[in-house]
Amino acid sequence: MKELSWTTHSVQLIDTEDDEVNFTIRAITRYEYSWITSETFHSFYSQLTKCNLLSKSEYEEWFSKVHESPYFQMFGVIKSTKDGTLPQIVGIGSMWLDPKYYRNKSISARIEDVVVDRKYRGKGLGKALLRFMMDKAKENKCYKITLHCSKNNVKFYEKLGFTEGIDMIFK
Ligand SMILES: CC(C)(COP(=O)(O)OP(=O)(O)OC[C@H]1O[C@@H](n2cnc3c(N)ncnc32)[C@H](O)[C@@H]1OP(=O)(O)O)[C@@H](O)C(=O)NCCC(=O)NCCS
Repeated sequence: MKELSWTTHSVQLIDTEDDEVNFTIRAITRYEYSWITSETFHSFYSQLTKCNLLSKSEYEEWFSKVHESPYFQMFGVIKSTKDGTLPQIVGIGSMWLDPKYYRNKSISARIEDVVVDRKYRGKGLGKALLRFMMDKAKENKCYKITLHCSKNNVKFYEKLGFTEGIDMIFK
């Protein structure tokens, strides 16, 4: 299989309400476990489902395990401010690629665990993150993208071109 393409691009978004702030969407690499802490992931995933806080060592083990796979990639929306405050993750999402035996090894992509921090919702960041991930699927020549979502998020994904209810598909 050809080398997978994950980390080459990022996109910059300007906050229309505060020109001191901008958001970057990019892949999160396996080396970033130290500035993105267990507390950060706990805060995001608690907005998605019931979730215990992993200890530092459990978190580091989990982070390195998921990043071991060349078929897995995490993406983040990173907020930076011109005043030099440390950057902050305000949105995350993950993608798995699944090369098929059939379809001449074509790849199916699966999007998982998309969360925009509740303080930053409604600014178009979720849509921009999804578009970024969908572009990555396209770069990797995926023939489809699937995801499972709750009923109240169906409209959000439909706006991005997904169809077919809570088990959604984009082709
Ligand atoms: C779903 C989620 C990622 C959306 O993120 P967001 O940054 O608020 O979304 P955006 O601001 O980019 O919204 C994009 C568009 O979708 C619409 N939208 C967003 N969430 C919606 C919802 N639940 N129902 C209907 N429309 C929705 C917005 O109004 C906007 O419409 P527009 O383009 O016509 O203006 C966010 O609400 C979230 O993290 N929810 C909690 C976790 C979760 O449920 N994740 C999804 C797992 S399936």
